[in-house]
Amino acid sequence: MRPRPSRRQFLRNTAGISLASLLPKGLIAADAKTERVTIHPGDAIGLVRPELHGHFAEHLGSCVYGGLWVGKNSPIPNVDGYRKAAVDYLQELGVPVLRWPGGCFADDYHWRDGIGAKRPRRVNLHWGDYVEDNSFGIHEFVGLCKKIGAEPYIAGNVGSGTPTELRDWVEYCNFPSGSTLSDERAANGSPEPFNIRYWGVGNENWGCGGRMVPEHYADLYRQFSNYMHNWGGTKLFLIACGPNGNDLNWSRKFLTENIGGRTPDGFAMHFYENSPLTPAKFNEDAMNTQMKTFQRVETAIMQQRALLDGFEQQGKRNMNLFLDEWGVWDRMIPEEEKSYGKLWQQITMRGAVAAGLGLNLFNRQADKLYMCNIAQIVNVLHSMLLTDGPMGSHCVRTTTYYAFMMFKQHRLKTSVRTEKEGTDPLDLSVSASRSGGDLIVTLVNPRASADVHADCSFTGAAPSTASAQILHHADMNAYNSFDDPDKITVKPHAVALENGRLRLDVPAMSIVTVALKA
Ligand code: AHR
Repeated sequence: MRPRPSRRQFLRNTAGISLASLLPKGLIAADAKTERVTIHPGDAIGLVRPELHGHFAEHLGSCVYGGLWVGKNSPIPNVDGYRKAAVDYLQELGVPVLRWPGGCFADDYHWRDGIGAKRPRRVNLHWGDYVEDNSFGIHEFVGLCKKIGAEPYIAGNVGSGTPTELRDWVEYCNFPSGSTLSDERAANGSPEPFNIRYWGVGNENWGCGGRMVPEHYADLYRQFSNYMHNWGGTKLFLIACGPNGNDLNWSRKFLTENIGGRTPDGFAMHFYENSPLTPAKFNEDAMNTQMKTFQRVETAIMQQRALLDGFEQQGKRNMNLFLDEWGVWDRMIPEEEKSYGKLWQQITMRGAVAAGLGLNLFNRQADKLYMCNIAQIVNVLHSMLLTDGPMGSHCVRTTTYYAFMMFKQHRLKTSVRTEKEGTDPLDLSVSASRSGGDLIVTLVNPRASADVHADCSFTGAAPSTASAQILHHADMNAYNSFDDPDKITVKPHAVALENGRLRLDVPAMSIVTVALKA
């Protein structure tokens, strides 16, 4: 236990003993209930891998074309064809990994269409039959990853592709030089191999990726993976298609059938949090239903991990669990989709809170997860950035962008166990991580109108300083618009630290991250 802070220290940390006097008037109701939380800094769960904050970009709507990529001749400010604002914002956010080109699109994508000077125009059959010119291919994708500091993750085509096509893509990307394919890559501007590690062997093959039964997919996984080699010293990390939500039948059958094949390094589950309402017209009921889904996501992670563990040999974990696609999926507004692109979804304060629930639970399950990619990075579903259509020059950082910003402090720290009184999925959500004397605690209040006083104690540690940030708007339907792009951003938040206890207000619809020295 650390000694109690001196009075001077205490005043410095809290700017006064009365918590109420610190808080902006009207931020929290006088009758807010108190929720007690216990943080166990010595009880490690696992590393918060930066990849738990991963991202996903699909050729869908205006995610790639018009979102990330506007082309070199565009009047929209760009760097080498990439939308400048998007590159700047994503650099600042830090994108650990970027999955591409789909989604459903991946299992109808033929990579040779996206290389060289002459590129065919193809119909995007999953997402509205629009014709794309293939100006964004593997070179442009790797170029984007370099610009934003992301590790590339390719989803290969199993649904409508062949083992030859996928093995050739690996060779094109990773074989150093001297083969026809690697020389073609050099002629196309990249003499150095891309050294891409992460390869998805199909996407949602139980659905848009071929409507397969698990036994059939297991056969194809064995066949395709057999031809994917570790060229140029890059050890491939192969990701098999996992279940839709918590479909244990898919996982069990795939794992049973795959015996004798190349063990996947990753097993990718997809889990969306759907709603029948449009994004900015939510009511409390719909929000509660959507927020409660996160408890099912957490259960799914535990059950799928337990299933994988049962298939591992000698208790050694080789198969890593991915949550390859997640996020809120609301009802789209046809006019918005027409103007801005397919699956273009406004991101409100509720979206940020949902992201906070997801990121908190990833911390809590950090020992079971390897990578989680929110869907998607720009202009599609639960996005970080929104533009006013493919030709629009506005680019706003969504509330979810700021939620991710607030969780950055957890990266590469060790997640530690937390406890709280309530078990209702709408109670305060908590996670914490530690590195040396630095402790980060994040609290999310997913209720529409019930404010909370959080009273946090720490086992075996007495924090001596604390500072906090909040992302909050009382209206669940509020958002950062093109006219008011900074309406909801991260602000400093008051906390009180007394005798090693942390007290703070967590208003309804807010995320609070506290950095402590312990
Ligand atoms: O993210 C949108 C779509 O959702 C993806 O293309 C697919 O994998 C999933 O069903």
